[in-house]
Amino acid sequence: MSRKARAAICRELNKPVVVEEITVEPPRAGEVTVKLAACGVCHSDLSATNGTLAMQLPLVLGHEAAGEVVEVGPGVAGLKEGDHVVSSFIYMCGQCRFCLGGRPVLCIEQGKAITTLPDGTLRTRDARGNPVSIFSGCGVMAEYATLHKDNLVKIDPKIPLDCAALVGCAVTTGVGAVFNTARVAPGSSVAVFGCGGVGLNVIQGARIAGAGRIIAIDTLDSKLVLAQKFGATDTLLAKAGEDVSKALKKLTGGGPDYAFECVGNGELAAAAYRAIRRGGLAVVVGVAKPSDTTAVRTMTLPFEEKTLTGSYFGSCVPRIDFPRMLGLYMGGKLMLDELITRRYSIEEAPQAFADLESGRNARGVIIF
Ligand SMILES: NC(=O)c1ccc[n+]([C@@H]2O[C@H](COP(=O)([O-])OP(=O)(O)OC[C@H]3O[C@@H](n4cnc5c(N)ncnc54)[C@H](O)[C@@H]3O)[C@@H](O)[C@H]2O)c1
Ligand SMILES: [Zn+2]
Ligand SMILES: [Zn+2]
Repeated sequence: MSRKARAAICRELNKPVVVEEITVEPPRAGEVTVKLAACGVCHSDLSATNGTLAMQLPLVLGHEAAGEVVEVGPGVAGLKEGDHVVSSFIYMCGQCRFCLGGRPVLCIEQGKAITTLPDGTLRTRDARGNPVSIFSGCGVMAEYATLHKDNLVKIDPKIPLDCAALVGCAVTTGVGAVFNTARVAPGSSVAVFGCGGVGLNVIQGARIAGAGRIIAIDTLDSKLVLAQKFGATDTLLAKAGEDVSKALKKLTGGGPDYAFECVGNGELAAAAYRAIRRGGLAVVVGVAKPSDTTAVRTMTLPFEEKTLTGSYFGSCVPRIDFPRMLGLYMGGKLMLDELITRRYSIEEAPQAFADLESGRNARGVIIF
C-alpha cells in the first residue's frame, strides 16, 4: 500500500531543507518498505544541499537510518515484516569483479543508485504527484522509505534503533577506515583531522585497534573534548588554514604512522600526507568539492615510500561489517549512545542541519 510520510527534502541549493509530506509507494520486486525509527544527519547530507555533492533535486535526504520492515515486495529472501534493518548507501550488483572480490564499495554498477532505486525509478512523490529523488538509493530522512533489499541489512532486534542507525554511515565509515582500509596495527600512532561524526569513529576505531597514540585535530575546542572521550590521547586545536603537519611531526618524533582526513579539504589531505612518517599511510575519508585538488611533493613518494589513499564507506561489506560494528557495541567496546548528542523531530530537520554546520553535535539524530 501507499503511505504518507513527513520527509526532509532539499528543493533548492543553499537554502534550508524543507519538511514536506510525501507519498511512498509500495515495494516492487526486490524492494522493501521500511518504517524508519531514527536517521542520523551526516555532513554528506549537508553537502547535497550546498552542491558539494551534485544530486538531482528535489531530493529526500538521509542515508544513515534504522527501522522496521513493514512491507516486502516479490523475490525478497531473508527479510520479512517486523525485521529490524539498517540502511546502506552503496549499490552492489553482486556480479562485477569488485563485488566478487569482496569490495562492493567499488561496484562498477554503483552509479545506478545515486538518486534513484537501482532500476532508475522512484517510489517517492510529492504532494503534487511529482517524483522526488532519494539520496544514494536511500532517502531515509522520512517516516517511510522503499529501498532495494541490497540497500538494507538485517540486525539483531535487541539493539536500540537510534544507535543502530549510526552504523549506516558514520560508524562504519570511521571504524571501517581504521579496520578495513588502513588495518591499523596495535601500538601505532594515528592522527585524525576533523572530529565530527566520522572522525570520532576513526578515533574510537583506532582505540579499539590498540593504537598507542591518537592525536585529534579540530578547529573547535568542544570537538577535542569529545575526541578525548572517544579515545584521543592528544589534541591539537587548529585555526582554519593552519598547517599542523610540523606540530604532528614534533609531537610524534617523526610523524604518525597513519593520518586520516575527515573534513573534505585538499589542503588537509596534503597536510595529512606531509605529517606521516616514512612508509606511513594517509587516508582521505572526507569528501571535498569536485574542483578541490591535493598536491604532494612527488619525490617523497619514492624516497619516503609514503602512501596517500582514500576510504569509501570504510571499505566495508555491509552484511559483514554492520553486524561486526554492532557486536563491538554489544560487547561494550564501541560507543554509540555517546555519539548522539542531540535528538530532533522530523519537523526540526532544518535546525538539525544548522547545528551540523555550526559543529554543535557529535551526531544529531532525527527520531520518528
Ligand atoms: N568516505 C566516506 O564514505 C564518507 C562517509 C561519510 C561522510 N564522509 C565525509 O566525511 C566528512 C566528515 O563528515 P562528518 O559527518 O563527520 O562531518 P562533521 O561536520 O560532523 O565533522 C567535520 C569536523 O571537521 C572539523 N573541521 C572543519 N574544518 C577543519 C579544519 N580546517 N581542521 C580540522 N578540523 C576541521 C569540524 O569542526 C567538525 O568537527 C565530510 O566531508 C563527509 O562528506 C565521507
Ligand atoms: Zn554519511
Ligand atoms: Zn558490483
